[in-house]
Amino acid sequence: MENKQISISSFGGPEQLVMHSAEVPTPQAGEVLVKVAFASVNPIDVKTRAGLGWAAEQNKDHLPWVPGYDISGKVEAFGEGAQRFVKGDNVAGFIGFPLKGGGYSQYVCVPENDLSLVPDAITLEAAAALPLAGQTAAQALNKAELQEGERVLILAGAGGVGHLAVQIALATKAEVYTTCSEDNLDYLATLGAHAINYNFEPASQRLDNVDVLIDLVGGEVALDALKCLSDNARVVTVPTISAEMICEKAQMLGFSATGMLVDPQPEQLDTMLYMVSVGLLKVEIFKTYPMSAAVDAHKQIESGHTRGKILLDMQS
Ligand SMILES: NC(=O)c1ccc[n+]([C@@H]2O[C@H](COP(=O)([O-])OP(=O)(O)OC[C@H]3O[C@@H](n4cnc5c(N)ncnc54)[C@H](OP(=O)(O)O)[C@@H]3O)[C@@H](O)[C@H]2O)c1
Repeated sequence: MENKQISISSFGGPEQLVMHSAEVPTPQAGEVLVKVAFASVNPIDVKTRAGLGWAAEQNKDHLPWVPGYDISGKVEAFGEGAQRFVKGDNVAGFIGFPLKGGGYSQYVCVPENDLSLVPDAITLEAAAALPLAGQTAAQALNKAELQEGERVLILAGAGGVGHLAVQIALATKAEVYTTCSEDNLDYLATLGAHAINYNFEPASQRLDNVDVLIDLVGGEVALDALKCLSDNARVVTVPTISAEMICEKAQMLGFSATGMLVDPQPEQLDTMLYMVSVGLLKVEIFKTYPMSAAVDAHKQIESGHTRGKILLDMQS
């Protein structure tokens, strides 16, 4: 059997992503071998490929590196003692985060406890899109302790994390405001959010008395959004690069503020898969690329204007 992978041998532009063949790995004790159906592409894959951020710093002496943290697929084989699944089960997982990655592979070994069983009602596409973005959305809202009836502003509600954060916040019965370009106004309004076109005017011109800010953009955009907040508001800023600066400014203004690094929690993914299966959460797939077009998939994420998630089809 062949195991095609997409890897980088040095940091740089999307063209650094190259397909090669590797051995199909053998599952060790407690692991299962997964035949990967879909891998999702996240901004952290793109930043690490470019040599930016902590995962790049840690991996720079260990290239080549195979990106990818989100997978769905079928269980193929078992290491000693692995007994949670049977051959052919559909599984999904948030794997190898943040150092190892490895999701852009046709076959990957994963500790069985890191995987969730995908309910029959959910496609493998939706299951691959959910882990990193869904858990970031849920954990950001949990950190902010968003309560029923509160006003929350989610910057970048149309993105991979944002569209799930909007829906989870609405399920909490919060009043949800979000920012997007004109192209996404209808989409976000249909989900049930009050959508603000950031190209027309900054959020601070349109909104006040916000209890919770979930910042998925960072930088100047986040600093502007601080002007929308009520006394004692809570801020969670998700992009790591500007987190320190935004937290300092927010705290100077009297708000509680924190950055975050998403933490893979298989039980939380179980819950989100259940929410999708009963229609409480809808996963938006912008486009699925064959694995041979990983370069185009990274270019799309770099455009900064992906609605929902994009996937690599690892068997095409
Ligand atoms: N700390 C962590 O653990 C963690 C985890 C996950 C993600 N992140 C970070 O969180 C950020 C969001 O991740 P993501 O996966 O959601 O990214 P994404 O899917 O690439 O976000 C794309 C979205 O951003 C929107 N957008 C672009 N510029 C905007 C602006 N000025 N105002 C409002 N919306 C804007 C776009 O909407 P329009 O097309 O309508 O402009 C698009 O829908 C990234 O920086 C990512 O690296 C951090």
